[in-house]
Amino acid sequence: MRTLPTPPVLHRAALALACVAALAGCKEERASNVPGGDIDQGLRLVTQYQCGACHAIPGVQGAAGDSGPSLDYIGRLSYIAGGIPNSPDNMVRWLRVPHALKPGTEMPPMGLTEQEARHMAAYLYTLR
Ligand code: HEC
Repeated sequence: MRTLPTPPVLHRAALALACVAALAGCKEERASNVPGGDIDQGLRLVTQYQCGACHAIPGVQGAAGDSGPSLDYIGRLSYIAGGIPNSPDNMVRWLRVPHALKPGTEMPPMGLTEQEARHMAAYLYTLR
């Protein structure tokens, strides 16, 4: 005769499902945070453009500059550069033309393409 699963078994199954869902959710969030942005490419570009000359950036070798703020929690800050709402669109724009969002800012435009900025933003949002 078939027995029904006992409550502890059900409980464990539910927990396992919840974990899988949570992991999938996380992954999806990482991927879709910046549409068209690729985290690994972003890391490569942040390294290549030497953003670390001015910023301390976790995960980027030699990035220990201190003329700009450390980017170690940039993924969870509410504002970019103290006053610009931290949305993916604003971040991409900031990386390309900082002075367009904050006239007089010390951060220089780095000559990034839209696509490069998207990849970089995707990486920066993993720093939280
Ligand atoms: C010449 C130095 C310099 C370089 C190079 C530079 N930045 Fe900046 N960055 C700054 C400064 C200074 C600020 C602060 C700007 C402000 O608040 O007006 C800043 C701000 C930022 C912020 C907002 C930080 C915060 O806490 O709000 C991000 C994100 C950022 N930079 C990313 C980058 C990336 C990515 C690169 C490489 C493509 C880069 N920066 C290259 C100087 C630099």
